[in-house]
Amino acid sequence: MDIKKDEKKYIMQTYRRNNVVFVRGKGQYLWDAAGNKYLDFFAGISVCNAGHCNPAVVAAAQKQMGALMHTSNLYYTGPQVTLARELITRSMPGKVFFSNSGAEANECAIKLARKWGEFTGKYEIITFKNSFHGRTIATLSATGQEKFHAHFKPLLAGFKHAVLNSIDSVNQCISAKTAAILIEPIQGEGGVAAADVRFLKDLRVLCDKKRILLMFDEIQTGMGRTGNLFAWQTFRVRPDVFTLAKSLAGGLPIGATVVAAPYADTFVYGDHGSTFGGNPVSCAASLALLKFLTPSLLKRVKATGAYFIEQLGELKKRQSCIREVRGRGLMVGIELDFPGRDVVQFCQDNGVIINCTQDTVLRFLPPLVVTTADVDKVIDTVEGALVWAQSKK
Ligand SMILES: Cc1ncc(COP(=O)(O)O)c(C=O)c1O
Repeated sequence: MDIKKDEKKYIMQTYRRNNVVFVRGKGQYLWDAAGNKYLDFFAGISVCNAGHCNPAVVAAAQKQMGALMHTSNLYYTGPQVTLARELITRSMPGKVFFSNSGAEANECAIKLARKWGEFTGKYEIITFKNSFHGRTIATLSATGQEKFHAHFKPLLAGFKHAVLNSIDSVNQCISAKTAAILIEPIQGEGGVAAADVRFLKDLRVLCDKKRILLMFDEIQTGMGRTGNLFAWQTFRVRPDVFTLAKSLAGGLPIGATVVAAPYADTFVYGDHGSTFGGNPVSCAASLALLKFLTPSLLKRVKATGAYFIEQLGELKKRQSCIREVRGRGLMVGIELDFPGRDVVQFCQDNGVIINCTQDTVLRFLPPLVVTTADVDKVIDTVEGALVWAQSKK
């Protein structure tokens, strides 16, 4: 079978795929069909935070698959309840709703905000320009990027997009109908753009004053990415609702909407549901992931991330095409003064997987197990790519 040819023939062409077929992964490494080894600094868009095929995650999923794979949510299952308890224990008093993806986790948060606001006539949700919240119609409407909206109008009513880090802009969007503010603590797809701590704290105060729900989309920033289990713990601003997906089950599909106690009983029987959400296999894998993300690993994420950002700062001094280096923990980006697509290809050709978003931002989301030696290799390869890309300009 010619995978690339058949992909064109049989799969709807919505993805511009990189020219490689991966067949195996272990830790921070991937292998292609020809046996070439790659150092992965993208982790499947921040999914394989515990490394590819993490042995503890694989063992937990396999064990659960041999016992019980699916029942639906019409029945009780142990792993789902245990996972909810563990997430709540590690975050804040409240309750969880499980789904299968990031978009679904945000969809649940949007529905929850609408139901919560129903009695006071509130349904509007403020999100931010350049944000990314998913591809369903509601989460697309929440997403603050026109390029994703084109062709799918009319979008869902009730979303306003404020400017990130501008409390004035948020104030201008607020009305008597505002039910919630939904924000990524660090915009991922939007170019690794962090919210200022001060801004998040101001949002917290504003939301308390105006009785608005503060909801964090932690789908990319969660599960240790910034050096704490959740980015709101790094920024020290507590949301009323936060959403998780991507790495939550260490590589299997899952989504979760975590809701603080005062709002946790907003939904009642029949208000929301999912056939697969919180299925035993994903939940068992997730419990193994949580065990793997020990305080010492998270401490290492902070240290390796700081080293990475420092080395990129040095690289910026040598390569003037780098406009800015930004990030927190192991969520890192560099903004170039030219499109980065060829740089990504050069790195791939030289055994390093990275990503480019917003045309000019190189994005690095490695598995959290990477070492400073891995960082050095990536810095070398990216520098080679930048020099090469400049030379052909
Ligand atoms: C911040 C954020 N929210 C939501 C999503 C959507 O998640 P999914 O693709 O699992 O629906 C993503 C995916 O990249 C994301 O980065």
